[in-house]
Amino acid sequence: MSIHRILRLGDPELHRVSAPVRIFDTDELRRLIDDLWNTMAVRSGAGLAAPQIGEFLRVLVFSVDANPRYPEAEPIPPTVLINPVITPLEETLEPGWEGCLSIPGMRGLVPRFAAVRYRGFDAAGEIVQREVSGFHARVVQHECDHLDGILYPQRMTDLSQFGFEDELTLAERC
Ligand code: NI
Repeated sequence: MSIHRILRLGDPELHRVSAPVRIFDTDELRRLIDDLWNTMAVRSGAGLAAPQIGEFLRVLVFSVDANPRYPEAEPIPPTVLINPVITPLEETLEPGWEGCLSIPGMRGLVPRFAAVRYRGFDAAGEIVQREVSGFHARVVQHECDHLDGILYPQRMTDLSQFGFEDELTLAERC
């Protein structure tokens, strides 16, 4: 297991489109997933996608359990999601504050689908499928975007709602 450097905004590699995983249940895939969990944990992230550590495969992990970066968020069970597909369950977009380990110290108000179905695979190749809403739906949309080279500022519609976390907190906006 190892802790990786996380690519940061401005690195053109973050905008690459990642490739699907073709072979499941391999040591290589399990090692990648362990590295994602470990790298995410040391930064108190809610989720991490493989391209953020320079592995351009459609693999992500997320989990929320009393996260100090998201004190108000409802818990999300630890989830490994490979080759995910997201289907919105309603048209409504809801604004919500997001951060990203590739954009440290900043937050932005991002519109996302309020409820989605997601489907993908775990490391063994078993199907993972859930219908979720709220912060869980937001996290999975944010992480899946990384697989297509999209970072949350690209989803923002009002850049006046983007700023340094400590300034936003002082202004009580997020
Ligand atoms: Ni992110």
